[in-house]
Amino acid sequence: MNSPQLLRTAAELKAAVAEALAAKSAAGAGAGEEPLSLGLVPTMGALHQGHRSMMDAARAENDVVVATVFINPLQFNDPEDLRRYPRTLEADVELLGAAGVDLVFAPDEDEVYPEGAPLVRVSSGELGARYEGASRPGHFDGVLTVVAKLLHYASPAAASGTPVRYRAYFGQKDAQQLVLIRRMVADLNFDTEVRAVPVVRAPDGLAESSRNGFLDPVHRRAAAVLPRALFSLRDRVSAGEPPDLAAAVALVKAQPLVELDYFDIVDPQTLQPLRPTDGPLEKPALALLAAQVGSVRLIDNLPLENPDTA
Ligand code: PAF
Repeated sequence: MNSPQLLRTAAELKAAVAEALAAKSAAGAGAGEEPLSLGLVPTMGALHQGHRSMMDAARAENDVVVATVFINPLQFNDPEDLRRYPRTLEADVELLGAAGVDLVFAPDEDEVYPEGAPLVRVSSGELGARYEGASRPGHFDGVLTVVAKLLHYASPAAASGTPVRYRAYFGQKDAQQLVLIRRMVADLNFDTEVRAVPVVRAPDGLAESSRNGFLDPVHRRAAAVLPRALFSLRDRVSAGEPPDLAAAVALVKAQPLVELDYFDIVDPQTLQPLRPTDGPLEKPALALLAAQVGSVRLIDNLPLENPDTA
């Protein structure tokens, strides 16, 4: 197993990125048609199979892979949620080593926010105030601010004399986060390609999440109604029938341990609601939901595609 280098400061990371790229270049990478490449996978740790598939995607496409492990206080609007977020760095580094990651950046809060909470932040705008943002005010501004910083920290631009392709990997499970990061990268001209990695599901259908570990067996069984409801919608749409959102919502509401926050059908690129009429879907869509299951907030989503309009 490869043992990744663990870096604690931005200066250490910058030097390690430069060294890793130089070593790859000396070994002949980037000499052909494909330029040298660096893949960045930002995480908050407590890694699971969903993260593993992000690492695998990054490893398959890049010469150098950097993972970050940083629990970003700026994106937690509930101090209790931040306090109890799982901290498992040792196990995380082991998983990252098994996935062939080269460098792990795990800074302290003081390294990322030396002056305390930053005065200037990236604004997630109107889209950041909907869905997850409505229940977690400020969450997406905190996400975008730290992602901007992480993209700068690991940037290969300053570290190499030759052109380096820079890709960053995010899970499709956090669909709203992904859309907002794509917008930030486009709107603010980051020289980075955003890559989406599909949701990984457990055998009961539940999307892998660092929060699943907080579910006791009873709530875990109850939570499985969420993917069931998404699959029921998807199956209707795949059969060319109109999406029956009301029936899917009713399925979730019939489970007393699950409190639904939102369940909507949206445009996958803009997250604008697509209010389906009685007819079949006319373009690809995304079913998006969030629910409270006991003390645990879960989110999930599933693409919907009518084969007749694909
Ligand atoms: O998806 C996450 O784990 C976090 O929101 C991210 C992108 C690492 C930013 O803290």
